[in-house]
Amino acid sequence: MGIQFKDVSYAYRGYKVNYDAIGHITLDIKPKGEFIAVVGHTGSGKSTLVQHMNALLLPTKGNVVIFGQDLPPKRHEKINYLRQKVGLVFQFPEYQLFEETILKDIMFGPKNFKSTESEAEVKAKKAAAIVGIDESLFNQSPFRISGGQMRRVAVAGILAMEPDILVLDEPTRGLDPKGRKDLMAIFQEIHDTEDKTIIMITHDMDLVAEYAKRVIVLDNGRLVFDGTKEMLFEHPQFDDFHLDLPTPLKILKTLEKEVGLVYKPHYDYASLLAYLKGVQHE
Ligand SMILES: Nc1ncnc2c1ncn2[C@@H]1O[C@H](COP(=O)(O)OP(=O)(O)OP(=O)(O)O)[C@@H](O)[C@H]1O
Ligand SMILES: [Mg+2]
Repeated sequence: MGIQFKDVSYAYRGYKVNYDAIGHITLDIKPKGEFIAVVGHTGSGKSTLVQHMNALLLPTKGNVVIFGQDLPPKRHEKINYLRQKVGLVFQFPEYQLFEETILKDIMFGPKNFKSTESEAEVKAKKAAAIVGIDESLFNQSPFRISGGQMRRVAVAGILAMEPDILVLDEPTRGLDPKGRKDLMAIFQEIHDTEDKTIIMITHDMDLVAEYAKRVIVLDNGRLVFDGTKEMLFEHPQFDDFHLDLPTPLKILKTLEKEVGLVYKPHYDYASLLAYLKGVQHE
């Protein structure tokens, strides 16, 4: 079932007249096994798009169908439960921490979705373990830990609701390289072990190349590309998307131009290095 967008447009009320933040979007996202990057310039509609994926925003025109539930709903139907099925981690989610202790903060989501206190605690502890928040921190204030740890606590708060699909709005923004790598390793692990669909907004094309399988490109509210990352980076009109190439591909293109090395795409540093070492020994 997953998530379907059927010719979806959305206009913010009272913003610009007749201005759609996203327009005529048609998409089909599978409930399992997808790792999708959503890319595009500032203001292209990425956050607006993903907020439709858990019914936080309802389309002005068209329909979104989330796990079989039609939106906007035809009658007054409870759609709150969709927010549990599709977990959305906002930009800078650490700003939304508010409880006295880290454990309570992680428990907030499951408690809100009808888990008992003890069920919520079990789920929260499991989520904390996944993101690497140690038990010794459970009774500390979420405001006395580093920014990177706060981000993990916020992610754990969503994971504790045990969503089927995980949506991340620029999860690595503002983190240092190690924090970025560690957090991406957590998402990769969740994707690999549970086959969970992950949808991630990012401006970082190196992350797209390394982690995403599928890429959705927005330009001025329109969907201009939806396909595999391999198709995107080898697209004859790639320049028209106004996106940066990932660093490994830049290096390979430069080597082709400067020293005539045959171009073969490699999407992360490890495979780039392995390829270059192989060339060296030929
Ligand atoms: N709450 C809001 N009220 C009115 N207009 C908004 C609101 N949020 C976003 N917009 C407008 O909708 C358009 C799309 O914004 P959106 O935040 O979805 O873009 P984005 O691709 O996520 O950008 P960024 O990369 O900067 O996060 C922009 O023109 C923006 O100014
Ligand atoms: Mg945004």
